[in-house]
Amino acid sequence: LKGPHAAEMQLAVKLALEAGKNMMFHLDTKGTKRGEGAEEKLGINTKQNDADFATEIDVANEKLIIAGIQKAFPSHEIIGEESTGTGEVAPLTNKPTWIIDPIDGTTNFASGCCLTCVSIGFCVGGKPVMGVAFSPKTQELYLGMEGFGAYRNGEKISSSDKTSEKTLKNSVVCFEFGYARSEEGVDNMVNAVRNVLKHGCRSTRSYGSGVLDLCYVASGRLDVVYTGIAEEGWKPWDYCAAMVIAEEAGCTIRSLKGDDFDSDGKVKADSSFDIYSKSMICGVNQTVVEECRKVVLNK
Ligand code: IPD
Repeated sequence: LKGPHAAEMQLAVKLALEAGKNMMFHLDTKGTKRGEGAEEKLGINTKQNDADFATEIDVANEKLIIAGIQKAFPSHEIIGEESTGTGEVAPLTNKPTWIIDPIDGTTNFASGCCLTCVSIGFCVGGKPVMGVAFSPKTQELYLGMEGFGAYRNGEKISSSDKTSEKTLKNSVVCFEFGYARSEEGVDNMVNAVRNVLKHGCRSTRSYGSGVLDLCYVASGRLDVVYTGIAEEGWKPWDYCAAMVIAEEAGCTIRSLKGDDFDSDGKVKADSSFDIYSKSMICGVNQTVVEECRKVVLNK
C-alpha cells in the first residue's frame, strides 16, 4: 500500500475485513435457516420508517471500526451511519475525518443476499481522499486513493468504456428506490425510470447497496447510477469511500439536481461532487452522465 494515506488505508482494510467477518455467520446461514428465527436474531431496529433499519451487527461493526480508528488516530474526526441515527449528519470540517457505513445494503444483509458491504472513507481538507469497500460474501475488496488509482482485489480497475460511444441506449442503468414512500416521492422515482426505459437503455438494475452500485460503475459492471429523485437521497457514508474508488477508476460523479451542470446540461468544468448532496449521478463517462441526467429529469 503506497501513497500519502497508506497508513489510513491499511487500517481501513484491516477493520473492513474484521467487520466483514462479523457478517458472515448470518450471510452463510440465512439462506438455509429461513423460518428458524434467523432474522429475529439480528435484533432489527427501525429508523425513519419500516424500510429503514439497522441490525445489531450494524451497530457492533460501527463500534469496532470507531474503536480501531480512535486507537490509531485519536485526533481524527469520525462520522458514522449508526452513531448519526436519524439525527443531522455532522458537517465535514477540514480536519482528517473518517466516514463509515458499517453495513451498506442492510436489507440485503438481513435477507441473506450477498450484495452488501462495509464502507470506510477518509477525508482531508473537506475532501474524500481514500476509500475502502469490502463485500464479505463475494470476498471483493475495493480500494481507492486520490492520485493512486482504484483496485478490486489488487487489480487495477477502470470504468468500462470512457469513450463517447457509450451512450444511454447501450448502458446498464442503476437506481435505488431507497426509503422514500411519500406519494410524490414514489411518483417521481417511478417517472424517472419510465423516462429511462422509454428513451431506451440496455437494462436497468437496483442492487440495494449504494456503495456497491458506485464500485460496480467503477469496475464496469454498471454504466451509470443515479439517486435523489425523491426527497430522501443517499448520505455521505453512501458516497465517501466509493466516490474515491469511482473517480480514481475514471468515472464522472456529480450532483444530479445541483448546480454542477450548465444551462445546456454539460458538466461545468470547475464542478466537483459534494458528498452531502442528496442527489447524485455517476457514470463511466461524461457523455453518459449528461445524457442520463437529461432523460431522468425530463429536461
Ligand atoms: C442504503 C443502501 C440503499 C440506498 C439507501 C441507503 P444502508 O444503505 O445503500 O441502496 O438506496 O439510501 O441508505 O441503509 O443499507 O446502509
